[in-house]
Amino acid sequence: MYPKELHPVTDQVRESAHLDEAGYQAMYRASIEQPEQFWAEQAERFLTWEHPWHTVSDCDFRQGQAAWFIGGKLNVSVNCIDRHLSSRGEQTAIIWEGDEPTDDARISYRELHEKVCRLANVLKSRGVKKGDRVCLYMPMVPEAAYAMLACARIGAVHSVVFGGFSPDAVRDRILDADCQTVITADYGVRGGKPVPLKANVDKALAKCPNVHSVITVRRTGETIDWDTTRDLWYHEAIEQVSADCAPEPMDSEDPLFILYTSGSTGKPKGVLHTTGGYLLSAAMTHHYVFDYKPGEIYWCTADVGWITGHSYIVYGPLCNGATTLMFEGVPTYPDASRCWQVVDKHQVNIFYTAPTAIRALMAKGNEFVTSCQRSSLRLLGTVGEPINPEAWEWYYHVVGDSRCPVVDTWWQTETGAIMITPLPGATDLKPGSATRPFFGVEPALMDPDGKELQGAASGNLVLKRSWPSQIRTVYGDHQRLVDTYFSAYPGLYFTGDGARRDEDGYYWITGRVDDVLNVSGHRIGTAEVESALVLHDSVAEAAVVGCPHDIKGQAIYAYVMPMHDVEPSDALISELKAFVAEQVGGFAKPEFIQWTPGLPKTRSGKIMRRILRKIAEDELESLGDTSTLADPAVVEELIAHRLNRA
Ligand code: PRX
Repeated sequence: MYPKELHPVTDQVRESAHLDEAGYQAMYRASIEQPEQFWAEQAERFLTWEHPWHTVSDCDFRQGQAAWFIGGKLNVSVNCIDRHLSSRGEQTAIIWEGDEPTDDARISYRELHEKVCRLANVLKSRGVKKGDRVCLYMPMVPEAAYAMLACARIGAVHSVVFGGFSPDAVRDRILDADCQTVITADYGVRGGKPVPLKANVDKALAKCPNVHSVITVRRTGETIDWDTTRDLWYHEAIEQVSADCAPEPMDSEDPLFILYTSGSTGKPKGVLHTTGGYLLSAAMTHHYVFDYKPGEIYWCTADVGWITGHSYIVYGPLCNGATTLMFEGVPTYPDASRCWQVVDKHQVNIFYTAPTAIRALMAKGNEFVTSCQRSSLRLLGTVGEPINPEAWEWYYHVVGDSRCPVVDTWWQTETGAIMITPLPGATDLKPGSATRPFFGVEPALMDPDGKELQGAASGNLVLKRSWPSQIRTVYGDHQRLVDTYFSAYPGLYFTGDGARRDEDGYYWITGRVDDVLNVSGHRIGTAEVESALVLHDSVAEAAVVGCPHDIKGQAIYAYVMPMHDVEPSDALISELKAFVAEQVGGFAKPEFIQWTPGLPKTRSGKIMRRILRKIAEDELESLGDTSTLADPAVVEELIAHRLNRA
């Protein structure tokens, strides 16, 4: 449809940007050649410290150990709020756009300060102290940001659980982090539909005896169950406490939050981020990658339940004194024009979303876009999965009127902040490429034997040195951190992604090389879905793989072996899909479920996923070697009844 061409930085963008190519090169070189000095300067520039650090960093990839700005003290909520009050107290910190187009609100930095202090005092009044974990299960309302910052103010560690997770998933996360306090809402509202968040919490808490307080935000006012010994209304509680709360001085390495993410095993990992390094990377990338300038309106469409919402709705933008837009709804409600209507309504300058949303909107046709002006837009961004060049070009030409650079940002929950990305004033863009490393990031590509590849090559993507917002541990299981990220290539951080580097040194992320799927930008471990399926009485064994999907990027394809006395049926397939939604969350529902009398295994009993993947992808010519199979007939059977045919 569009020529797959290089999009050079235009003079206009270069002249107004924080950095041009020479600026990027100079800073990148400094970050690699004099890292101590470089990071000390950045930490001084972007953050306000109560007490200076004595050592910039002390990291050892062999132990999975990282510490940044050691000895330094600061409070994240002070950096995100208090220090802006004298210069921009009346400036809008958060623009809230509700699910209905008529519903919106603006919260100034001064109001944010009061709300955060009050909620912090409510938490204190319930006995929450520094180091305690607080679970947040929230819709996209400003109170979600207040809750995160209130925890940060008193040194409590938040664990935000995405509102799409099921009660069982909420329970597992509450128990793993031993959260004793939960902040939620009566209901969430998305696309005109209510989400029963408080009822889900009630179900989850049936098996969480340590939870003593549930603070509930009234969003819809619909009836909910109430436990007077445990439950309190947010709006009542905040009236009973002071509007001032002294911030807790935090060590740079004190934990800020835990965020659960999927890995190759069934049990989600509690990724732990700390204070100083995390905040620095979030703020600095927000400044350079989005080329943020004071007064601009910045909108990241992510949910606060994911890392993108943490770093680029709340912490990065607020640390920089920005105006951040928080959207409660979905891009297709009331219709597929919604995003562009919001852009016009609030005069959004910077828009950051996921490829899956771009593809979904592209499929609805250009009219929905061109019926809105979008003249305020200056920069577009994407995150979460590889973007196909067609979607990139549509985003650039149709949404951005061939005027706005597109920053394709690669990073992970574990990296805390953007790692590989264009900088708008510096980087010539290639559709589909995340381009070049951010400051201090040293990527490399490895072959399966552990040899580093040079020049243009494809391989497993690793990072050679620590960065400030590096994952510090897997909560409660440091060995799992070492095993997952630092064992495949000793001395290197293994990302789990594959990538290609071209002759210009640009990186093209090709996707996960482990058993992690990326469905509509949601990261899902195949093992999580398999564990859910085998919990069902009718299922003897299950294997889950990904297959390509036009809108979602990947879809879930499950091979299910029924119990010997179970008759497979379409009704049972629907039941199994609903069962997975109940166990994990609606976003983890398999697209396809194929019945099978058995799974292809090696003689030693290992499931041959490579073959299952190829069948699901309908790529039969590249099935590969099947000679090591215990029972080759199973493959014939699977091929004959495969579901995802062209
Ligand atoms: O596979 C990569 C993909 O998303 C994974 C990380 O998922 P999560 O921790 O949920 O964080 C998503 C938001 C940062 C990565 O391992 N991914 C993320 N961004 C990109 C990407 N794949 C290709 N291009 C990207 N820009």
